[in-house]
Amino acid sequence: MSQVAFRIRNELAMINGDFCGKDIVSLDQFARQDIEYLLPVIQHMKNLAVNHEVSHLLAGHLISLLFFEPSSRTFSSFAAAVKRLGGQTIEIQNPETVSSVSKGESFEDTIRVFEAYSSAIVLRHPVPGSARAAARAAKDIPVVNAGDGNNEHPTQTLLDMYTIYEQFGRLDHLTGLLAGDVFNSRTLHSLMRGLSLFNNNIVYLLSPPQLRLDRSDLAQFVKRGLRIIEIDSEKDIPHDCQFWYWTRIQKERFASLDAYAEIVAKNFTVTPSLLDTYASKNTILMDPLPRVGTIDPAVDDDERAVYLRSQIRNGLYTRMALLALILGKA
Ligand code: CP
Repeated sequence: MSQVAFRIRNELAMINGDFCGKDIVSLDQFARQDIEYLLPVIQHMKNLAVNHEVSHLLAGHLISLLFFEPSSRTFSSFAAAVKRLGGQTIEIQNPETVSSVSKGESFEDTIRVFEAYSSAIVLRHPVPGSARAAARAAKDIPVVNAGDGNNEHPTQTLLDMYTIYEQFGRLDHLTGLLAGDVFNSRTLHSLMRGLSLFNNNIVYLLSPPQLRLDRSDLAQFVKRGLRIIEIDSEKDIPHDCQFWYWTRIQKERFASLDAYAEIVAKNFTVTPSLLDTYASKNTILMDPLPRVGTIDPAVDDDERAVYLRSQIRNGLYTRMALLALILGKA
Protein backbone atom coordinates (compact mmCIF):
# COMPACT_ATOMS: atom_id res chain seq x y z
CA MET A 1 0.00 0.00 0.00
CA SER A 2 1.35 3.42 -0.79
CA GLN A 3 1.42 5.50 2.36
CA VAL A 4 0.10 9.04 2.24
CA ALA A 5 1.63 11.47 4.69
CA PHE A 6 -1.03 13.19 6.73
CA ARG A 7 -0.47 16.53 8.36
CA ILE A 8 -1.15 16.50 12.09
CA ARG A 9 -3.10 19.63 12.90
CA ASN A 10 -4.53 20.96 16.13
CA GLU A 11 -8.12 21.36 15.18
CA LEU A 12 -9.83 18.68 17.19
CA ALA A 13 -12.81 19.49 19.38
CA MET A 14 -12.07 19.20 23.09
CA ILE A 15 -14.37 16.80 24.93
CA ASN A 16 -15.10 19.56 27.45
CA GLY A 17 -17.61 17.52 29.46
CA ASP A 18 -19.63 16.38 26.45
CA PHE A 19 -18.64 13.33 24.42
CA CYS A 20 -21.71 13.36 22.19
CA GLY A 21 -20.79 13.55 18.49
CA LYS A 22 -17.08 14.07 19.21
CA ASP A 23 -14.20 12.35 17.46
CA ILE A 24 -11.82 10.47 19.76
CA VAL A 25 -8.51 11.03 18.04
CA SER A 26 -6.03 12.18 20.68
CA LEU A 27 -5.62 12.31 24.44
CA ASP A 28 -5.03 16.02 23.84
CA GLN A 29 -8.82 16.39 23.54
CA PHE A 30 -9.26 15.34 27.18
CA ALA A 31 -9.12 17.26 30.42
CA ARG A 32 -8.79 15.56 33.77
CA GLN A 33 -12.54 16.01 34.35
CA ASP A 34 -13.38 14.13 31.14
CA ILE A 35 -11.41 11.09 32.27
CA GLU A 36 -12.97 11.31 35.74
CA TYR A 37 -16.39 11.40 34.05
CA LEU A 38 -15.54 8.38 31.92
CA LEU A 39 -14.31 6.08 34.72
CA PRO A 40 -17.74 5.33 36.29
CA VAL A 41 -19.26 4.84 32.83
CA ILE A 42 -16.61 2.17 32.16
CA GLN A 43 -17.46 0.61 35.54
CA HIS A 44 -21.14 0.57 34.57
CA MET A 45 -20.31 -1.16 31.27
CA LYS A 46 -18.18 -3.67 33.15
CA ASN A 47 -21.12 -4.54 35.41
CA LEU A 48 -23.37 -4.88 32.40
CA ALA A 49 -20.96 -7.19 30.55
CA VAL A 50 -19.95 -9.27 33.57
CA ASN A 51 -23.62 -9.87 34.42
CA HIS A 52 -24.45 -10.69 30.76
CA GLU A 53 -27.14 -8.03 30.78
CA VAL A 54 -28.86 -7.38 27.48
CA SER A 55 -28.45 -3.80 26.30
CA HIS A 56 -30.10 -2.04 23.37
CA LEU A 57 -28.19 1.23 23.78
CA LEU A 58 -26.78 1.06 20.26
CA ALA A 59 -29.78 -0.63 18.62
CA GLY A 60 -30.23 0.76 15.12
CA HIS A 61 -26.59 1.88 14.89
CA LEU A 62 -24.03 0.50 12.47
CA ILE A 63 -20.37 1.13 13.32
CA SER A 64 -17.68 0.73 10.64
CA LEU A 65 -14.43 -0.85 11.78
CA LEU A 66 -11.76 -0.02 9.20
CA PHE A 67 -8.46 -1.63 10.11
CA PHE A 68 -5.60 -0.97 7.68
CA GLU A 69 -3.20 -2.63 10.18
CA PRO A 70 -3.53 -5.99 11.94
CA SER A 71 -5.15 -6.17 15.38
CA SER A 72 -6.34 -8.80 17.82
CA ARG A 73 -7.55 -6.83 20.84
CA THR A 74 -8.64 -3.46 19.48
CA PHE A 75 -10.60 -4.85 16.54
CA SER A 76 -12.33 -7.61 18.46
CA SER A 77 -13.08 -5.52 21.52
CA PHE A 78 -14.67 -2.76 19.41
CA ALA A 79 -16.70 -5.41 17.54
CA ALA A 80 -17.72 -7.01 20.85
CA ALA A 81 -18.52 -3.60 22.37
CA VAL A 82 -20.93 -2.71 19.56
CA LYS A 83 -22.63 -6.11 19.71
CA ARG A 84 -22.86 -6.09 23.52
CA LEU A 85 -24.75 -2.81 23.23
CA GLY A 86 -27.16 -4.13 20.62
CA GLY A 87 -25.59 -2.43 17.59
CA GLN A 88 -24.14 -3.86 14.40
CA THR A 89 -20.81 -3.57 12.64
CA ILE A 90 -19.35 -3.26 9.15
CA GLU A 91 -16.01 -4.96 9.65
CA ILE A 92 -13.28 -4.35 7.08
CA GLN A 93 -9.81 -5.66 7.79
CA ASN A 94 -7.18 -4.84 5.19
CA PRO A 95 -9.28 -2.29 3.22
CA GLU A 96 -6.28 -1.82 0.94
CA THR A 97 -6.96 -5.26 -0.55
CA VAL A 98 -10.69 -5.89 -0.04
CA SER A 99 -12.16 -2.44 -0.71
CA SER A 100 -11.90 0.00 -3.62
CA VAL A 101 -8.73 1.37 -2.03
CA SER A 102 -7.11 -1.39 -4.11
CA LYS A 103 -8.42 0.36 -7.25
CA GLY A 104 -6.92 3.68 -6.23
CA GLU A 105 -9.77 5.22 -4.25
CA SER A 106 -8.47 8.05 -2.10
CA PHE A 107 -8.37 7.70 1.68
CA GLU A 108 -10.83 10.57 2.09
CA ASP A 109 -13.32 9.05 -0.36
CA THR A 110 -13.14 5.69 1.41
CA ILE A 111 -13.93 7.42 4.70
CA ARG A 112 -16.86 9.29 3.09
CA VAL A 113 -18.28 6.01 1.78
CA PHE A 114 -18.33 4.41 5.23
CA GLU A 115 -19.63 7.65 6.72
CA ALA A 116 -22.68 7.27 4.47
CA TYR A 117 -23.49 3.85 5.94
CA SER A 118 -22.52 4.20 9.61
CA SER A 119 -23.06 6.09 12.85
CA ALA A 120 -19.32 6.10 13.63
CA ILE A 121 -16.02 4.95 12.12
CA VAL A 122 -13.30 3.21 14.11
CA LEU A 123 -10.03 3.51 12.19
CA ARG A 124 -6.64 1.88 12.53
CA HIS A 125 -4.05 3.01 10.02
CA PRO A 126 -0.23 2.87 9.78
CA VAL A 127 0.25 6.56 8.99
CA PRO A 128 0.50 9.09 11.85
CA GLY A 129 -2.22 11.71 11.48
CA SER A 130 -4.58 9.45 9.51
CA ALA A 131 -7.25 9.54 12.22
CA ARG A 132 -7.32 13.34 12.09
CA ALA A 133 -7.51 13.24 8.33
CA ALA A 134 -10.44 10.82 8.61
CA ALA A 135 -12.14 13.06 11.16
CA ARG A 136 -11.86 15.96 8.70
CA ALA A 137 -13.27 13.85 5.86
CA ALA A 138 -16.20 12.46 7.88
CA LYS A 139 -18.05 15.66 8.67
CA ASP A 140 -21.23 14.18 10.15
CA ILE A 141 -20.19 11.21 12.30
CA PRO A 142 -17.52 10.61 14.95
CA VAL A 143 -14.21 8.97 14.09
CA VAL A 144 -12.38 6.95 16.73
CA ASN A 145 -8.63 6.51 16.45
CA ALA A 146 -7.78 2.84 17.00
CA GLY A 147 -4.07 3.55 16.49
CA ASP A 148 -2.41 5.78 13.86
CA GLY A 149 1.14 4.67 13.15
CA ASN A 150 3.49 5.53 15.99
CA ASN A 151 1.43 8.57 16.93
CA GLU A 152 -1.45 7.78 19.33
CA HIS A 153 -3.78 5.05 20.57
CA PRO A 154 -6.20 6.96 22.79
CA THR A 155 -8.70 4.19 23.56
CA GLN A 156 -5.82 1.98 24.73
CA THR A 157 -4.74 4.71 27.12
CA LEU A 158 -8.23 5.19 28.49
CA LEU A 159 -8.45 1.46 29.24
CA ASP A 160 -4.95 1.56 30.74
CA MET A 161 -5.88 4.47 32.97
CA TYR A 162 -9.02 2.63 34.07
CA THR A 163 -6.86 -0.43 34.85
CA ILE A 164 -4.51 1.69 37.00
CA TYR A 165 -7.44 3.46 38.67
CA GLU A 166 -9.16 0.13 39.42
CA GLN A 167 -6.03 -1.04 41.19
CA PHE A 168 -4.96 2.07 43.11
CA GLY A 169 -8.11 4.22 43.29
CA ARG A 170 -6.31 7.27 41.92
CA LEU A 171 -4.58 8.70 38.86
CA ASP A 172 -2.47 11.26 40.77
CA HIS A 173 0.76 10.64 42.69
CA LEU A 174 1.79 7.65 40.63
CA THR A 175 5.22 6.39 39.70
CA GLY A 176 5.43 4.18 36.63
CA LEU A 177 8.03 2.48 34.51
CA LEU A 178 7.45 2.71 30.74
CA ALA A 179 9.74 0.30 28.96
CA GLY A 180 10.54 -0.98 25.49
CA ASP A 181 10.03 0.86 22.22
CA VAL A 182 9.42 4.30 23.69
CA PHE A 183 10.03 6.00 20.34
CA ASN A 184 7.47 4.03 18.35
CA SER A 185 4.89 2.98 20.91
CA ARG A 186 1.70 4.94 20.30
CA THR A 187 0.28 3.45 23.51
CA LEU A 188 3.11 5.03 25.51
CA HIS A 189 2.72 8.39 23.75
CA SER A 190 -0.99 8.51 24.59
CA LEU A 191 -0.40 7.24 28.13
CA MET A 192 2.11 10.02 28.84
CA ARG A 193 -0.44 12.55 27.60
CA GLY A 194 -3.05 11.00 29.89
CA LEU A 195 -0.81 10.89 32.98
CA SER A 196 0.21 14.50 32.43
CA LEU A 197 -3.42 15.55 33.03
CA PHE A 198 -3.11 14.47 36.66
CA ASN A 199 -0.90 15.72 39.47
CA ASN A 200 2.53 14.59 40.62
CA ASN A 201 2.98 11.67 38.25
CA ILE A 202 6.48 10.41 37.50
CA VAL A 203 7.47 8.07 34.68
CA TYR A 204 10.79 6.31 34.28
CA LEU A 205 11.56 5.55 30.64
CA LEU A 206 13.71 2.49 29.94
CA SER A 207 14.46 1.79 26.28
CA PRO A 208 17.29 0.84 23.96
CA PRO A 209 19.25 4.06 23.27
CA GLN A 210 18.04 4.15 19.63
CA LEU A 211 14.40 4.09 20.76
CA ARG A 212 14.28 6.95 23.25
CA LEU A 213 11.30 9.29 23.31
CA ASP A 214 11.38 11.97 20.60
CA ARG A 215 12.96 15.09 22.18
CA SER A 216 10.10 17.42 21.24
CA ASP A 217 7.53 15.01 22.73
CA LEU A 218 9.63 14.79 25.89
CA ALA A 219 9.77 18.58 26.19
CA GLN A 220 6.02 18.81 25.58
CA PHE A 221 5.11 16.25 28.26
CA VAL A 222 7.47 17.82 30.79
CA LYS A 223 5.93 21.24 30.09
CA ARG A 224 2.53 19.76 30.90
CA GLY A 225 3.78 18.71 34.33
CA LEU A 226 4.74 15.06 33.84
CA ARG A 227 8.07 14.26 35.50
CA ILE A 228 10.14 12.11 33.13
CA ILE A 229 13.34 10.32 34.09
CA GLU A 230 15.20 8.37 31.41
CA ILE A 231 17.21 5.38 32.62
CA ASP A 232 19.53 2.98 30.82
CA SER A 233 19.47 -0.06 33.06
CA GLU A 234 17.02 -2.21 35.00
CA LYS A 235 19.20 -1.47 38.00
CA ASP A 236 17.88 2.11 37.97
CA ILE A 237 14.21 1.11 38.25
CA PRO A 238 12.86 2.52 41.53
CA HIS A 239 11.20 0.03 43.87
CA ASP A 240 8.14 2.17 44.51
CA CYS A 241 6.53 1.94 41.04
CA GLN A 242 2.78 1.41 41.06
CA PHE A 243 2.96 0.06 37.53
CA TRP A 244 5.35 -1.28 34.95
CA TYR A 245 4.18 -0.83 31.37
CA TRP A 246 6.19 -2.97 28.99
CA THR A 247 6.00 -2.65 25.20
CA ARG A 248 7.41 -4.71 22.35
CA ILE A 249 10.01 -3.43 19.91
CA GLN A 250 7.85 -2.54 16.89
CA LYS A 251 9.37 -4.47 14.01
CA GLU A 252 6.90 -2.99 11.49
CA ARG A 253 8.18 0.57 12.14
CA PHE A 254 11.81 -0.20 11.22
CA ALA A 255 13.20 0.70 7.80
CA SER A 256 15.40 -2.41 7.76
CA LEU A 257 15.21 -5.81 9.41
CA ASP A 258 18.90 -5.56 10.29
CA ALA A 259 18.27 -2.48 12.42
CA TYR A 260 15.45 -4.31 14.18
CA ALA A 261 17.53 -7.45 14.71
CA GLU A 262 20.35 -5.43 16.24
CA ILE A 263 18.02 -4.05 18.88
CA VAL A 264 16.11 -7.19 19.77
CA ALA A 265 19.35 -9.11 20.11
CA LYS A 266 19.75 -7.29 23.40
CA ASN A 267 17.46 -9.01 25.82
CA PHE A 268 14.56 -6.83 26.87
CA THR A 269 12.27 -9.29 28.60
CA VAL A 270 10.43 -9.25 31.92
CA THR A 271 11.29 -12.44 33.80
CA PRO A 272 10.14 -13.60 37.24
CA SER A 273 13.59 -12.73 38.53
CA LEU A 274 13.47 -9.17 37.12
CA LEU A 275 10.04 -8.64 38.64
CA ASP A 276 11.07 -10.04 42.03
CA THR A 277 14.28 -8.01 42.10
CA TYR A 278 13.05 -4.58 40.99
CA ALA A 279 9.27 -4.43 41.47
CA SER A 280 7.39 -4.18 44.75
CA LYS A 281 4.71 -6.62 45.84
CA ASN A 282 2.08 -4.05 44.80
CA THR A 283 3.50 -3.15 41.36
CA ILE A 284 1.17 -4.17 38.55
CA LEU A 285 2.70 -5.36 35.29
CA MET A 286 0.95 -4.04 32.19
CA ASP A 287 1.52 -4.61 28.47
CA PRO A 288 -0.79 -3.47 25.67
CA LEU A 289 0.17 -6.68 23.83
CA PRO A 290 1.00 -8.42 21.62
CA ARG A 291 4.04 -9.44 23.59
CA VAL A 292 6.83 -10.44 21.32
CA GLY A 293 9.61 -11.48 23.63
CA THR A 294 8.61 -8.77 26.08
CA ILE A 295 7.27 -10.89 28.93
CA ASP A 296 8.33 -14.40 29.86
CA PRO A 297 5.18 -16.59 30.08
CA ALA A 298 6.52 -17.74 33.47
CA VAL A 299 5.35 -14.34 34.77
CA ASP A 300 1.72 -14.89 33.69
CA ASP A 301 0.56 -16.50 36.93
CA ASP A 302 2.09 -13.80 39.12
CA GLU A 303 -0.81 -11.94 40.72
CA ARG A 304 0.82 -8.63 39.71
CA ALA A 305 0.50 -9.52 36.01
CA VAL A 306 -2.66 -7.81 34.74
CA TYR A 307 -1.95 -7.85 30.98
CA LEU A 308 -3.81 -11.08 30.24
CA ARG A 309 -6.57 -10.45 32.74
CA SER A 310 -8.02 -7.05 33.57
CA GLN A 311 -6.16 -5.06 30.90
CA ILE A 312 -7.62 -7.06 27.99
CA ARG A 313 -11.12 -7.13 29.45
CA ASN A 314 -11.05 -3.45 30.36
CA GLY A 315 -10.59 -2.77 26.63
CA LEU A 316 -14.09 -4.08 26.03
CA TYR A 317 -15.70 -2.08 28.84
CA THR A 318 -13.85 1.12 27.88
CA ARG A 319 -14.87 0.85 24.23
CA MET A 320 -18.48 0.14 25.20
CA ALA A 321 -18.42 3.32 27.31
CA LEU A 322 -16.82 5.46 24.61
CA LEU A 323 -19.16 4.32 21.85
CA ALA A 324 -22.22 4.87 24.02
CA LEU A 325 -20.99 8.35 25.00
CA ILE A 326 -20.06 9.59 21.53
CA LEU A 327 -23.39 8.37 20.18
CA GLY A 328 -25.21 10.19 22.97
CA LYS A 329 -26.50 7.02 24.62
CA ALA A 330 -24.88 7.08 28.04
N1 CP B 1 -3.13 -3.27 22.24
C1 CP B 1 -3.40 -3.36 20.93
O1 CP B 1 -3.57 -2.35 20.25
O2 CP B 1 -3.45 -4.63 20.46
P1 CP B 1 -3.89 -5.02 18.97
O3 CP B 1 -2.82 -4.48 18.05
O4 CP B 1 -3.99 -6.51 18.95
O5 CP B 1 -5.19 -4.34 18.70
